[in-house]
Amino acid sequence: MSNYFRTPLFPSIDLSTKCNLSCIHCRNNKNKISKIPFKKVIELLDEFESLEVFHLAFAGGEPFLFPKIYDVLEYSQKLNVPKVTIVTNCTFINKDRIDKLDNNKIRFAVSLDGPKEIHNFIRNADVFDKVIDNIKYLVSKGFFVMLNCTLMKYNYKYFDEIIKIAKNLKVNQINFSKVFPVHSEIIKFMLSKEELDELYENYRKYSGEDSLVIFLDKGYMGFPDAYDSDIAFSMGCRAGISQINVMSDGSVVGCKLLPDVCAGNIYKNTIKEIWDDNNNWKLFRNVIQNINSDTCKKCDYFYACKGGCRAFAYYMTGDINGKDPLCPL
Ligand SMILES: C[S@@+](CC[C@H](N)C(=O)[O-])C[C@H]1O[C@@H](n2cnc3c(N)ncnc32)[C@H](O)[C@@H]1O
Ligand code: SF4
Ligand code: SF4
Repeated sequence: MSNYFRTPLFPSIDLSTKCNLSCIHCRNNKNKISKIPFKKVIELLDEFESLEVFHLAFAGGEPFLFPKIYDVLEYSQKLNVPKVTIVTNCTFINKDRIDKLDNNKIRFAVSLDGPKEIHNFIRNADVFDKVIDNIKYLVSKGFFVMLNCTLMKYNYKYFDEIIKIAKNLKVNQINFSKVFPVHSEIIKFMLSKEELDELYENYRKYSGEDSLVIFLDKGYMGFPDAYDSDIAFSMGCRAGISQINVMSDGSVVGCKLLPDVCAGNIYKNTIKEIWDDNNNWKLFRNVIQNINSDTCKKCDYFYACKGGCRAFAYYMTGDINGKDPLCPL
């Protein structure tokens, strides 16, 4: 039986590296300028439609800086793809063009990293008020809005307050995830295992919440904990299994946090050719053969956990095939 889906169900396209902000934790390297030409974006969208994907996402960089972003969204909403999400810092939107978008199809994933002072500190700019205004506009127009909050030492104590902000804004969902130490500066403000556990305990009190969907992705499934919680659905890392990312330089990767682990390039092959060749995806599809941990090899949870997150193992231990340091076993 194949251990990956016949098609990449959840593709994401980083349209360009261009960004108007310089967030303290950002994985995007805006000094390395790259952009996918509009014509190539349309070609990719057509291919993803033919591959019958479930959900398309646009990110970057800041996707609203992509010159023809509204044309891209208008094109996407006509495709036979159930949902399309734009992942944005939401510091500027064109209300006339937003009004033309289909609120049954287009969704907004807006970064919000804390209450005003904290958000502005992390985002390195005085943007909070603008972002809140724009979120209110999107909600008033009936769009599905989810907030993305990246947790680190500066904001994790504001967890409850951030949920309160989300509820007041009447957004549909909030996703919390931990910061990844993609550069060495981040090490000093990333969360420890104990702080993540503390957060997770606090998160439990929101189970059964019905006015707002709340996810806390520790980036590791937290076995055996996951079996009695609502994160069990995720069944481990999706990179190269159902997830594919096209980066703005044309490279195709399973995980955006591991941009050097490249599976192919859109200027050389089609997405289908890249997806169908298992040799391109050894890191994510051959974990059982490659994992450098006897505990994982013998572990009852391996079929789902697969040793945890490859990116976190790499940044924390230097071994991309190592065991996720968050594992309690
Ligand atoms: C790279 S940004 C691109 C889209 C847009 N510019 C934005 O800020 O939402 C997408 C998301 O990745 C998150 N992110 C960036 N660097 C990260 C890191 N090192 N670890 C975890 N999340 C990160 C951001 O906070 C943001 O929510
Ligand atoms: S706005 Fe997004 S892409 Fe830009 S620096 Fe911040 S996290 Fe990175
Ligand atoms: S031992 Fe390995 S497979 Fe088992 S839970 Fe820990 S990281 Fe996952």
